Amino acid sequence: MEKEADVVIIGGGVAALQLARYLHPQFHVVIMTKSKIRNSNSYKAQGGIAAVVSETDRLDLHVQDTLVAGRYHQSTEEVGGLVREGSEVVKELIKSGLPVDRNETGEVALGLEGAHSRRRIVHCGGDATGRYLIEFLLDRLPPNVEIVENELVFELLLTNDRSRCIGVAAKSVDGSVHRYFGRHIVLATGGAGALYPYTSNHPRMIGDGVAMAYRAGAAVADMEFVQFHPTLLYVDGETKGLISEAVRGAGAILLDSKGRRIMEGVHPQKDLAPRHIVAYEIYKRRAEQQDVFLDISGISHFEEKFPSISQLCREQGVDLKEGKIPVVPGSHFLMGGIVIDSFGRTSVNGLYAIGETASSGVHGANRLASNSLLEGLVFGKRTAEFINHESHVSSIRSVLYDYPLKVKEDEMPNLDSEQLKWNMIENVGVIRDEAGLNRQLNWLPVQLLESLMEQSLERLSIEQIQTIFMFINSFIMTKSALIRKESRGAHIRSDFPNEDLFWKDRRIIHEQTKITWRRESYESHQTGIHA
Ligand code: SIN
Repeated sequence: MEKEADVVIIGGGVAALQLARYLHPQFHVVIMTKSKIRNSNSYKAQGGIAAVVSETDRLDLHVQDTLVAGRYHQSTEEVGGLVREGSEVVKELIKSGLPVDRNETGEVALGLEGAHSRRRIVHCGGDATGRYLIEFLLDRLPPNVEIVENELVFELLLTNDRSRCIGVAAKSVDGSVHRYFGRHIVLATGGAGALYPYTSNHPRMIGDGVAMAYRAGAAVADMEFVQFHPTLLYVDGETKGLISEAVRGAGAILLDSKGRRIMEGVHPQKDLAPRHIVAYEIYKRRAEQQDVFLDISGISHFEEKFPSISQLCREQGVDLKEGKIPVVPGSHFLMGGIVIDSFGRTSVNGLYAIGETASSGVHGANRLASNSLLEGLVFGKRTAEFINHESHVSSIRSVLYDYPLKVKEDEMPNLDSEQLKWNMIENVGVIRDEAGLNRQLNWLPVQLLESLMEQSLERLSIEQIQTIFMFINSFIMTKSALIRKESRGAHIRSDFPNEDLFWKDRRIIHEQTKITWRRESYESHQTGIHA
């Protein structure tokens, strides 16, 4: 089956829906998702949207908080744009009826989260902001938008000279392959938390967009920066979901097995210190075989304030009356991804990336809490406005690039995705060092991955394709983590424990098999990225 559209969007989270909402109503827009439209990470978001909407807050303070959390590994200009436009976008959403939480006097109730110097987190339904926001955006999707569910996009279709992306190939559960051609192809596939066994992400979030863009030759950067959220619910040796930072914002404190405060004396913001610092402290206690708990006994009306978290705890047999929630850190957010410019353009013509799959320059080495829904909203809108002005792009069907070979299902070696996850947490987890990173690289079938670059994955099963994507992303992350010989933000190297000025602002960029580190990655535009 072949279909044509003006814009093909892969992914169904906040960035995708915001983009679709702002695209020209005359465009035929197709949103594709590999599962159901409500299965995105955005839908699960508990934290909220960070934005300057109060008279007592200031744009420059939000910019500063973002830069500090990201350890200045950002484009200050991009951060400024995010905060400024974010404030407008969120005010507009509130005005158009997003049901945000309000206080007794009817004002927007603003929450506090880690590393924010002001209360500026807008919530809906207590801890169900993602769900409310996605439902709000879905309700307002115009009729020109078609949603295709349960189809895994596995390849970007390029012109014969590989100079432009003109479509995607997708596989449905019955194994049939469909091609969707579009004048603009937008990756909004979210993060890659499920490369680790402990994660807040949906189990299928393995970084499809990054792996596909990498195979298509787009620049991918900053993949060593994986944020570990300090507090995932931990029951019977498994993580069961997120315990939002808003819980600490409301007064919960972290205790070890002996009831000692673990963040005391570590950082002036104590339990609300930047995430990598809190995650590291918990990780150290866990390495000493200690359990770590969130003490929620000081929070009045907990179940009323955090209905989704309370339900999650009840389902997992955690008795909230005891006032202690067992937690461990787990992978949560990918700061790196496909290099884009301010309009979502990647280094491949016709291909855009927005949201968590993109490396937009706003998060740096560690994302500030609740800046991710904000990024999706801002870049979704901006990219739509850019595409609306690019409507002159007309010729999409030209000679298609054909991979020299198609991998046969029975030719695929048995790659173990479960083992990959455990190796990732062990070797490329909260703390890294050269020995562990080399162990990971030696374990990965690097030559096989390279040989697959020139082969179509069309004949493989969905499971096999996803496994290959996981291995590709693991390779990029591990290689980058090995090259970055410093600790910065979420990338903590025990053998290089300090920040190194040499690496500040230097992005490790992968373009297929070429790896460079340079400063100009965010000056990408669709005629190429200059080193
Ligand atoms: C949280 O609620 O702690 C997560 C919010 C975020 O990651 O921004």
